[in-house]
Amino acid sequence: MLTVDNVNLHYGAAQALRGVSLSAPMGKITCVLGRNGVGKSSLLRAVTGQYPISAGSISFEGEALNGLAPFNRARRGVGYVPQGREIFPLLTVRENLETGFAPLSRKDKFIPDEIFSLFPILQTMLGRRGGDLSGGQQQQLAIGRAMVTRPKILVLDEPTEGIQPSIIKDIGRAIRYLRDSTGMAILLVEQYLDFCRELADHVYIMDRGEIVHEGPAETLDTAEARRHLTV
Ligand SMILES: Nc1ncnc2c1ncn2[C@@H]1O[C@H](COP(=O)(O)OP(=O)(O)OP(=O)(O)O)[C@@H](O)[C@H]1O
Ligand SMILES: [Mg+2]
Repeated sequence: MLTVDNVNLHYGAAQALRGVSLSAPMGKITCVLGRNGVGKSSLLRAVTGQYPISAGSISFEGEALNGLAPFNRARRGVGYVPQGREIFPLLTVRENLETGFAPLSRKDKFIPDEIFSLFPILQTMLGRRGGDLSGGQQQQLAIGRAMVTRPKILVLDEPTEGIQPSIIKDIGRAIRYLRDSTGMAILLVEQYLDFCRELADHVYIMDRGEIVHEGPAETLDTAEARRHLTV
């Protein structure tokens, strides 16, 4: 389980996270919903170690992550799919996947076949440059690259952003498969309410740096969620 306890995060004088607490259990999909600028990416930067927190604590499977560099969190099993995908445009698909080897021991430096059964398009495009892929294909590549690191928790930042509906379905299926087949924890931030409600086990709603609502996905108060998602 990932536990985020009372976390603050500041960019200079501006506070982006205010006492944020949440948990993401193993074998479950936990979704954090919020509109633009409420602090969703900041929360994931705090979890992955991309940006330091100013108060609170973060732990995974009972061990503190605070103070560990992103590389060491990846070694502990934190896999990250960043907003905007951050594919290397001049590297091939295969080379992009191989960037996930960095935190692995020598014997694990291979690309698991499972990635190609989930996203067959990646196999057919192994020799193509990342920059030549469509947005949806790049999103699949970004998830594949995170899977190469053999995560125990997969952290995804708006995986549906700018993606066409058919690929959103594939991505939803892949995320569900990962939860059910590997029992990993999945922490997902989104603005897309329907995707989140269909996929998630537990939902948090964030507004202006704070968690303002939480509950099981099946009893999510849609009106309340929409109120926080519209500007
Ligand atoms: N590097 C930074 N320096 C200063 N302020 C920042 C920085 N990154 C984000 N912010 C500010 O912190 C707040 C939260 O930003 P964050 O990117 O976490 O929001 P978000 O919920 O991910 O938004 P979006 O849905 O647009 O991705 C915003 O007001 C944003 O302008
Ligand atoms: Mg963001």
